[in-house]
Amino acid sequence: MASTTLGASRALGSTAAERLITAVRRKSGAMKRLVERSEPAPAIETDDVQGIVFRGYGRLPCCHYAFLQVREPIQARAWIARVASQVAAGTPRAERFALHLAFTYSGLAALGLPERALRGFSREFIEGMYGDHRSRFLGDVGESAPERWAWGGPTSETVHAVLMVYGADRAATSERFQAEQELWRESGWADVHALPTCPRSGREHFGFADGISQPAIEGYHEASSTYHRVRAGEFILGYPNEYGLYTDRPLVDGSRPGALSLPADVEGSTLRDFGRNGTYLVMRQLRQDVVAFRETLDALTRNEDGSPNVKEQERLAAQMVGRWPSGAPLMASPHQDDPSKARENDFGYHREDREGLSCPVGAHVRRANPRDALEPSPGTEESLTVNRRHRMLRRGRIYGGELPPGAVDNADRGLMFVAVNANISRQFEFVQHSWIVDPRFNGMFGESDPITGASAENIFRVPGNPVRTRCVGLPRFVSVVGGAYFFLPGIRALRFLGEAEGFVGKPGEGTE
Ligand code: HEM
Repeated sequence: MASTTLGASRALGSTAAERLITAVRRKSGAMKRLVERSEPAPAIETDDVQGIVFRGYGRLPCCHYAFLQVREPIQARAWIARVASQVAAGTPRAERFALHLAFTYSGLAALGLPERALRGFSREFIEGMYGDHRSRFLGDVGESAPERWAWGGPTSETVHAVLMVYGADRAATSERFQAEQELWRESGWADVHALPTCPRSGREHFGFADGISQPAIEGYHEASSTYHRVRAGEFILGYPNEYGLYTDRPLVDGSRPGALSLPADVEGSTLRDFGRNGTYLVMRQLRQDVVAFRETLDALTRNEDGSPNVKEQERLAAQMVGRWPSGAPLMASPHQDDPSKARENDFGYHREDREGLSCPVGAHVRRANPRDALEPSPGTEESLTVNRRHRMLRRGRIYGGELPPGAVDNADRGLMFVAVNANISRQFEFVQHSWIVDPRFNGMFGESDPITGASAENIFRVPGNPVRTRCVGLPRFVSVVGGAYFFLPGIRALRFLGEAEGFVGKPGEGTE
């Protein structure tokens, strides 16, 4: 089954890659030099990259998010300068707290970032997460429609920035958050939305270990297998990406006051690079309907006498996810959970399980990362090359209280999904649209991701020999309650934004 076509990714396999490279060459008016994989990877300036790119802060389990709006740009910039000195970089490693600060496009415009730099951001970042076409494409319809979002949508207050405060425990994190809150409120910022998170169990609300399978950044996480080693430029601007090119970056005229504090343009122009060591963050607050999830599993697995079958509920849930609650992949342990395999991650699908008999082809992890099952040559290095162009670092956090077994309530709980990627359209948007939402994924029909797909009448097929199971009428278990695209600047760029003279600090006036 896995050998059938993955339509959109097949297109990206070769021809679209060439189109992309040609477009980059045309845009710059010059032939850009391809940086071959065989060349030594450039050293990553870890002390200039915000640390969330490199780590998920497992040792800092609480994270409070504040979504903010600029009211007084000049004061607001002074606050940024202060936060810039406290933001956690990749090195040295943050021990007790980690602060991170990122901005939406309208936030950077409101702060008066020069026009030339604003023009250098990617189209999807400039346009933002919602809009007719984009919302349909991402599956943000019905209950998930942006008009209903609590933040980031067209009917809620405009979000300009997000501050993330990570800490070791609830009390210390809240205290630190409140201290920061007093400062931003005195400094020309207003609160739009806040979300404190402090999970207790370490599992997401459907009961599964999360955050296991991540790409490894080449030049930083050295020891990973070929399945996960990805070039730094896929996650950090200013380094070669999986096409051997530098993703477009926002550049600033070198003659602007303060601009010389920014890194030089790695491609050799006289401009300074506001983007280098920065990246894009995709943030989506995803509400999980745990009651519906459990009731659906129960209804689909009852014994013939009508009694509940807890073991079968767990099996079906694991088939939907592609891993058991401990995290053990079905590919390594198809019949029961095996916590000793919880971290296993070096496997492909095409050779080992083409038909999906161990891990259903429609399972969440198999859709979100089909690994070696991609066209044009499934099961080969070429397939993994295509795959590497669609990876993301996930840095999400669980929010809301756990629902005890057997309990029913209407509380808001879910996942603050946070993805780090250098190209939102090729990474997050592609995965969300073509692999998670698309009902024709991998030659299927009418089947969206069983965990986080957009369909309200979903189908999930579990291949079996001799009998396959088909679950129909699955409700939507996950809905979007807020979201936005952010730019996470490097530390020098953050300082420039906060300190450089010559910003007029009013939207549209920071022109060059
Ligand atoms: C509430 C919503 C979601 C839940 C409960 C959820 C849960 C999970 C779980 C339990 C895993 C397996 C553990 C791991 O490898 O980390 C996983 C993996 C993954 N998820 Fe999600 N997820 C959600 C939303 C999303 C979304 C929206 C995306 C992307 C657009 C996504 C992308 C991925 C990826 C890329 C993997 C790793 C797959 C691999 O490399 O094998 N997830 N998710």
